[in-house]
Amino acid sequence: MAEAFIELDRVEKVFEVRRRAGFLRRERRQVRAVDSLSFTVARGEMVGYIGPNGAGKSTTVKMLTGILTPSAGRLRVAGIDPSRERTRLAHRMGVVFGQRTTLWWDLPLIDSYRLMHRMYRIPDARYRENLDRLVELLGLGELLDVPVRQLSLGQRMRGDIAAALLHDPEVLYLDEPTIGLDVISRTRVRDFLRQVNAERATTVLLTTHDLQDIEQLCSRVMVIDHGRLVYDGALAGLHEVGESERTLVVDLERELPPIEAPAPARVVRVVGPRQWLAFPASESAAGLVARIAARYPLVDLSVREPDIEAVIAKMLHGTEGTPEPPPDRDASPVPESS
Ligand SMILES: Nc1ncnc2c1ncn2[C@@H]1O[C@H](COP(=O)(O)OP(=O)(O)O)[C@@H](O)[C@H]1O
Ligand SMILES: [Mg+2]
Repeated sequence: MAEAFIELDRVEKVFEVRRRAGFLRRERRQVRAVDSLSFTVARGEMVGYIGPNGAGKSTTVKMLTGILTPSAGRLRVAGIDPSRERTRLAHRMGVVFGQRTTLWWDLPLIDSYRLMHRMYRIPDARYRENLDRLVELLGLGELLDVPVRQLSLGQRMRGDIAAALLHDPEVLYLDEPTIGLDVISRTRVRDFLRQVNAERATTVLLTTHDLQDIEQLCSRVMVIDHGRLVYDGALAGLHEVGESERTLVVDLERELPPIEAPAPARVVRVVGPRQWLAFPASESAAGLVARIAARYPLVDLSVREPDIEAVIAKMLHGTEGTPEPPPDRDASPVPESS
């Protein structure tokens, strides 16, 4: 058995929330954000941590970093109780919250790193070596003198990831690190995480809405719903439990009746010359594309991955919403094929 680096034993987190319930009256209500949660993560593992909005993912990460104290249960990281010895643990962990930055907003990026160099008392040689490496791998060279507030979201996120790794943490928590990133930044961040995990055996817990992040990085995925662990295993298994669909979006030269696609692929939506086809996530898109291209005048196409919410919904309830609807207002349902 590999050493358990992260250990949760029946951990709970209950929030007291007060709500106005009429004039001068307030109601107290309890929100059980994390409910009897138990799992372990071995040193060097890279685990996906997914679930619907409000499932308790961020609350878990906050307890792991010591920002929040569990209401009950036992939680240890490297044998340390995070909320009791937060500073001691801070030297051994890195954390990235996609929704907010740990960088100093008004300072050039490099100044944030210099501050961290001192805060974490990173030995000079080590700091320079890590900085050089992170700057190169994350493509930050030209950004170092730019104030953080002027960076794009993707640039800032890469800056944040570098900041989280400057002090060689043994464990890295990433809470939605690719949210809102463009494709190139996403790929770059993923390549980078894979490398860090392989080279340094950094333990990684990755929370994300993007199934591709998990597919490309994590051999193990944990699904949480209403604060409880509902799945722990390989991603492939998750697909099996909730057989999900991908969507092929094709732009034709002109408006046409729904494409006659080879089953089980089928057209689920038509808007002008654009058509949406659902097909099983386990099948390759290439064959489907080839067959459509042979018969129809294709201008452009893209493949949309099932989103995590849909896969999980299917796993939990055996239902999947209709594939991601297009944002267009005048979207029309599929006309009856004649
Ligand atoms: N500080 C807080 N006070 C009250 N309720 C909270 C607080 N933080 C989170 N919650 C609630 O706890 C639940 C889990 O939230 P969160 O951990 O942020 O979920 P996730 O990250 O999976 O979307 C939600 O119902 C959320 O509204
Ligand atoms: Mg969250």
